[in-house]
Amino acid sequence: MPARLAAIAERLPEEGVFCDVGSDHGLLPLFLLQQRKALRAVVTDIKPLPLARAKEALAAGGVADRAECVLADGIASLGGRGIDFYAIAGMSGETIAQILREGKTTLHAGQRFYLQPMSHEDILRTHLSVEGFRITEETVIRENGKLFLLICATFTGMPGEAPDPITAALGMYLDQHPGVWGRAYFEIKRDRLVRTAEKRRAAGLDAFDQESVLARIREILKEEP
Ligand SMILES: C[S@@+](CC[C@H](N)C(=O)[O-])C[C@H]1O[C@@H](n2cnc3c(N)ncnc32)[C@H](O)[C@@H]1O
Repeated sequence: MPARLAAIAERLPEEGVFCDVGSDHGLLPLFLLQQRKALRAVVTDIKPLPLARAKEALAAGGVADRAECVLADGIASLGGRGIDFYAIAGMSGETIAQILREGKTTLHAGQRFYLQPMSHEDILRTHLSVEGFRITEETVIRENGKLFLLICATFTGMPGEAPDPITAALGMYLDQHPGVWGRAYFEIKRDRLVRTAEKRRAAGLDAFDQESVLARIREILKEEP
C-alpha cells in the first residue's frame, strides 16, 4: 500500500462507510475492507477505465460484496449511502475544493474527510474554512522520495472566515507539529518561492506577492531573513 494511502488508513476510526473518490487502482478501499476497517465502501471514479480497474482489484481481493463501484463526477450524486468517511486523494486542491463545493448539499455534520492535494493547498484550505469544515490535522508523508500533504477535516456545516494568505498557504498545524517530514516540506516550498521571486526579478516584473509567505517559512525554519 502506498505510504500516502496508508496514512489515511491508519487515521480512519474503526467501522463506518468509507467512500474513495477518484479511486483508480482501488488499493485503499481494498485494504480497508480486507482489514475490516470499513463496513462498506463506495468506490468512485469519473472515468470508466480507472473504475473498472478498482472493480477488478476489489473482486480479486474477495471484497466485492461490500463495495459499490460508482461512475461519478465528485460526490454530488452520492447522497443517501450513509457515507461516514471520504478520501479524495491524488488531485489538485482546486479539484478537491470543486468536488466539495458541488457536493455541498449531500454533506452532513460529522462526516470526516481525508484530503490529499497534489497542489493548490491554499485554495483547498480556504474552501474548507469558509464552507463549514474544521481542519483537525495536517501531516506530510514521504513516498518514493516525494512529499505529500494530508489534510484531515470534519464537516461541521458552520461557515467560517477565510484564512489570511499566509495561513492559506502554510496551514496552522505543520509549524507546530512538523512530524518527520514537515521541515523538508517547508524547505521545498521555500526553494520554490525563492526561484519564482528570482525569475520575477530577472524579468523585471512587479513585487512578489508571496514575500510574506516566504518570510513566514524562514521564521518557521529559524533562518535569517
Ligand atoms: C491520480 S489518480 C489518484 C488515485 C488515488 N486516489 C490515489 O491517490 O492513488 C486521480 C483519479 O481521480 C479521478 N478523478 C479526477 N477527477 C475526478 C472527479 N471529479 N470525480 C471522480 N474522480 C475523479 C481520475 O479519473 C483518476 O482516476
